[in-house]
Amino acid sequence: MKRGLMRIVQPLRGLFRGYLHRVLLIAFFVVAFVPVAFGSLAISRVIQDYLTRATTERVSRDMNLAQAFYENALRQVSAVAFSLALDNELSTYLSPENIGQEDMMRLMDAMILHRIVSNELEGTQFIGVFRPDGHLVSGRVLFAYGVQRSVRRDMDWSGLPIVAATLRRGALTSGTEIIPAEYLEPIGLAEQARIPLIETPRAAPEPFDPREGTAGLALMAVAPAYGPDNQMLGFVVVFQLFNRDFTLVDRIRSVAGVDTSTIFLGDWRVSTNVLTETGERAIGTRLSEEVARVVLHEGQEYTGRAFVVKENFITRYTPLRDHTGQIVGILYVGAREEAFLSLVHDFNRRVVLIAVVSILIAVLLSLPVARSITQPIISLVAASAEVAGGDMSVRVPERGRGELRQLSEAFNRMVAELQSTQDELLHAKNLASIGQLAAGVAHEINNPLGTIMLYSDILNREVPPDSTIKDDLQMISREAARCKEIVTALLNFARQSRVMAQETDVNSLIRELASDLERLPLYENVIIVQKLAPYLPIIQADASQLRQVLVNLANNAAEAMPDGGTLTFTTMLDPAGDRVHISVEDTGIGIPPENIPKLFTPFFTTKPIGRGTGLGLAITYGIVKMHRGQITVQSQVGKGTRFTVILPARISQAQSGAASDETARVV
Ligand SMILES: Nc1ncnc2c1ncn2[C@@H]1O[C@H](COP(=O)(O)OP(=O)(O)OP(=O)(O)O)[C@@H](O)[C@H]1O
Ligand SMILES: [Mg+2]
Repeated sequence: MKRGLMRIVQPLRGLFRGYLHRVLLIAFFVVAFVPVAFGSLAISRVIQDYLTRATTERVSRDMNLAQAFYENALRQVSAVAFSLALDNELSTYLSPENIGQEDMMRLMDAMILHRIVSNELEGTQFIGVFRPDGHLVSGRVLFAYGVQRSVRRDMDWSGLPIVAATLRRGALTSGTEIIPAEYLEPIGLAEQARIPLIETPRAAPEPFDPREGTAGLALMAVAPAYGPDNQMLGFVVVFQLFNRDFTLVDRIRSVAGVDTSTIFLGDWRVSTNVLTETGERAIGTRLSEEVARVVLHEGQEYTGRAFVVKENFITRYTPLRDHTGQIVGILYVGAREEAFLSLVHDFNRRVVLIAVVSILIAVLLSLPVARSITQPIISLVAASAEVAGGDMSVRVPERGRGELRQLSEAFNRMVAELQSTQDELLHAKNLASIGQLAAGVAHEINNPLGTIMLYSDILNREVPPDSTIKDDLQMISREAARCKEIVTALLNFARQSRVMAQETDVNSLIRELASDLERLPLYENVIIVQKLAPYLPIIQADASQLRQVLVNLANNAAEAMPDGGTLTFTTMLDPAGDRVHISVEDTGIGIPPENIPKLFTPFFTTKPIGRGTGLGLAITYGIVKMHRGQITVQSQVGKGTRFTVILPARISQAQSGAASDETARVV
């Protein structure tokens, strides 16, 4: 288990190795996170706004439907009242000669019964016929649960405002009316209308209408009935009671597809399908004070979020008015906010998921990008450490393009430069120690050698010419003289200490030298060619030392061409104009590549013993270095060799002084 975990964690740890890598990854993460987070927040806001608007719009559309149902029901009530009032039979029953007669009364009751059961109306209904003085002649009540009964009580309805208005106007009057309990009592509806007021959170302290609790709210129509000579014989009252009757609200809910719908008398719920905590219809509960103020007191529609009974709904409330236009109640439709919120949460969850996935993708994509940036830098750091440790052979791969590639190239160039400088320094150091050794040895040998030569000369002179040892003595003198030559060369090599810098014309130096050399036997078969730059500046150099350099190079060249060849002296000014190039080229045997690094080492020679000391190029190197110059060699075996000496046109006094001190030590 633990090992399995490690197997996952290990490479992840690798991801965060290296400060730059970490910084880059964190930067990429932040760059991905901030806009995605802001974008997600914005999207979530937009979605929420959109859903709120959509729900609000839906609820207002639902309200339009609900109102249509409501108005239709009112029209229905009016139509029943109107058609009954217009019925000729009714005017017969109500005519002064017939009214009060028992058989007429029965016929009228049958007529009302016929109407009330004809299903033209819904819910709890009352149809009554009244005399013009407001007294009931005959009526019937149909309860929502189907039971109906006849009402024949003597009671006066002329005090009911809608009745009074009809009698006054003499025309059909309809509206949403409050029917006080004393009117309902005689027709047996007071019990159904009575709904005790229930304490409701956020409701206003006092009910909107003092009759709340006992009065009924009904869709009501009152239609006058006229006789043949246009005298009013009575009037018909038809109403549909809302208290405890859920026909209309349930119809609105099922047909409009709205969550809840309610009819209020004032701020009191008389018919609703909003449920209480215990799952019963919330009749008797009251409207929240805030909504009551807007709808009942200010007479405006209320749209938006509202606290209904026990939870929040997206709602719409519209005032209900009686026949005079007075606000008597409210029609409400509402959608449960919970459903809306769960939709919002669902959207938000998706937005968060998309955001997280986007950030993950960005981070995953950033991994190779960060790697491509850090990899060359890591290689550079590692290579630098190796260079610092002394390994000059390291090179970094030059991949990609742009600045990172330039950096790698520059690094590689720098290391190569460093390596060649170090090689040169090492060489100089070697030469210096060899020089010191040679000087010491030469110095010690010089005196005894002088003594040997002196005494061998004396002996040579003293022995008779025919002596047998004469030859031997001459051999001693000759070999001692050769030793002396070597020692002198050694001392020359060791003591290249002073540069007597003077104005030197390189071209004329070469011309003189060439004519001297031509006369020597070594140059018998050699053609000397001079390719001298016409406007070569006069340089500052030690002429005799420079001559020695050229002699050494020329002799080597001539020795490399035993069967003859061409020796070419070339001079030229380098493009910058501050250095003079002098090359000595031959068409001789060439130098094998493996010998090139050893050329300037003292005593390196390929010539047979007695022919070369191997000091010529070592001395040459010392002199060139003292002049702050460079010497290079190019050679091809069998084709020839070219040595090029590059000298600065001017060497300052300080430079040559420093050079002399240094060279005394170095060479
Ligand atoms: N132009 C050349 N062509 C071929 N080989 C050369 C040339 N110049 C130098 N060399 C090689 O370099 C070696 C070293 O040369 P250097 O001048 O130092 O010593 P040397 O010529 O052998 O002896 P000396 O002390 O007499 O000059 C030579 O022995 C020879 O092998
Ligand atoms: Mg030589």
